[in-house]
Amino acid sequence: MKKTSHIPELHDWIVAEKKLGRRIGLVPTMGYLHRGHLTLIEHAKQTGAFVVVSIFVNPLQFGPTEDLSRYPRDLERDARLLEDAGVDILFHPTVEEMYPRPTVTFVEVGELDQVLCGAARPGHFRGVATVVSKLFHIVEPDMAFFGQKDYQQYLIIKRMVSDLNLRIKICAVPIVREEDGLAMSSRNVFLKAEERQEALVLSRSLQEAGENLRSGQRSAREIEAQIRARIHRESHGVIDYVEVRDAEDLSEVTDIKRPVLLALAVRFGTTRLIDNKVVEVDTIV
Ligand code: PAF
Repeated sequence: MKKTSHIPELHDWIVAEKKLGRRIGLVPTMGYLHRGHLTLIEHAKQTGAFVVVSIFVNPLQFGPTEDLSRYPRDLERDARLLEDAGVDILFHPTVEEMYPRPTVTFVEVGELDQVLCGAARPGHFRGVATVVSKLFHIVEPDMAFFGQKDYQQYLIIKRMVSDLNLRIKICAVPIVREEDGLAMSSRNVFLKAEERQEALVLSRSLQEAGENLRSGQRSAREIEAQIRARIHRESHGVIDYVEVRDAEDLSEVTDIKRPVLLALAVRFGTTRLIDNKVVEVDTIV
């Protein structure tokens, strides 16, 4: 595996691969890799692409009250995992390499930014869309891989690619869970043992809501109320949001007739966890 933190070096390597007719697959990450990331990489490798993984903790997507310096990092361990996973290039730029001067150009993502995680984290998705757009220009991938755990992020990137006519295929990879159901996240390391145990209520309540939908429940507000009640009953988690939204455009839903996203964000101690479930219309009887 080649490694670089320099854009021109990366560019030379990619141009050489493109000349050989290779297709380029990009897996953008912020590092501190877990099995969820490795699954993204497996999907990328399965396409036969030349796989580039970026590790960059992007300051632009952290709010003033969010602790950027607290974000977990371990580049050496990440590099070993990527090498074992058969990744071709690790691109790990510094902040100076990505933002040699304060950026005045941003990618705005309109209303998709105003709901769910965007409502609680103003500017977050603008930061994500801006850095992903920069990474797309730097790497020039044919396809890029995003986890469905960050469903809103995935939709925003898909929409950005469509709105800006970028020739990049956005591939969604299903959520990877621990055996007990907890969605994999770099933030899970911050959970105390009892918080981690209580956090299992998230996947369980989503599962239950999915079953209720399948057995005919159609009221979005009722589904939300049931999820909230279960979280309150079984944990000390502080709910940020629990929402049922249209799975295509995140618009509000009252009576469920189309595929929906069941999405939630809950704080356990100082750690904010998100999880979601997409319920497809054809599984609704
Ligand atoms: O999902 C993430 O890890 C980040 O938001 C991303 C896509 C790498 C952009 O910084």
